[in-house]
Amino acid sequence: MAGLSSRLITLLLLFTTLSPTLAAPSSGCGKGPTLRNGQTVNTNINGKSRQYSLRVPDNYNQNNPYRLIFLWHPLGGSMQKIIQGEDPNRGGVLPYYGLPPLDTNKKAIYVVPNGLNAGWANQNGEDVSFFDSMLQSVSDGLCIDTNLVFSTGFSYGGAMSYSLACSRASKVRAVAVISGGLLSGCAGGNDPVAYYAQHGTSDQVLNVSGGRQLRDRFVKNNGCRPANGEAQPGSGGKSTRVEYQGCQQGKDVVWVVHGGDHNPSQKDPGQSQPFAPGNTWEFFSRFN
Ligand SMILES: *[C@@H]1O[C@H](CO)[C@@H](O)[C@H](O)[C@H]1NC(C)=O
Repeated sequence: MAGLSSRLITLLLLFTTLSPTLAAPSSGCGKGPTLRNGQTVNTNINGKSRQYSLRVPDNYNQNNPYRLIFLWHPLGGSMQKIIQGEDPNRGGVLPYYGLPPLDTNKKAIYVVPNGLNAGWANQNGEDVSFFDSMLQSVSDGLCIDTNLVFSTGFSYGGAMSYSLACSRASKVRAVAVISGGLLSGCAGGNDPVAYYAQHGTSDQVLNVSGGRQLRDRFVKNNGCRPANGEAQPGSGGKSTRVEYQGCQQGKDVVWVVHGGDHNPSQKDPGQSQPFAPGNTWEFFSRFN
């Protein structure tokens, strides 16, 4: 008996240790969905009216815990402009940051929030509160794996993703910061979160040194070994990728530096497609 119970305890301990990698189905799992694809949801945060939109795969299965990806627009952007996309050859982003076509197994649900004054100033933490509210509503209304919540955005949207990495490390598994800066604050900021970022050395809006500073917070928090010198773009501004070493398990840091300006749709020489979507999808897909 004693042997059996100690084995049970070992098994329990093993499960507890492994639990971050097991699915954590939300309260919306196993129930009919109360939110639907294409829906615009209205809510109220600190007395202000807020909106977000949902993209749910058409074969939605209420017993399948989905990944949840938050997509924050840049300054002057909107929920609608992320949904529809804007010309990538003129500095726009592809629809839904170009991610759904890469999600061939239809594993992800997307949340597209709309900013106050077309940005994410996050006054008194109101945009982080908005995030908390959306995460709760979507977790209740749809079947989400709460261990697989991600955030990305360009510029102000990158700043908002960074802000969540700072203040919501326990909720967000990984972020992808595209040409971000410190614009939405960094409350807390001491916990590890898997971190992808890309930035152009010719960025005239949010300079690359700012992007490097944001990255270095998570290089440190995640316990990665600092890089040996600062990576530079290759010839023709080609992107250079740095995969940080020695990071805590599941707390990867990837940095991509390119020679371009403030552009979410930067392409490598000779390539027809922007690299941000593929890099972001590859990074988020590391986590199961
Ligand atoms: C980068 O931008 C920040 C914030 O605007 C500024 O304080 C800093 O001086 C700039 N650094 C360089 C190297 O231009």
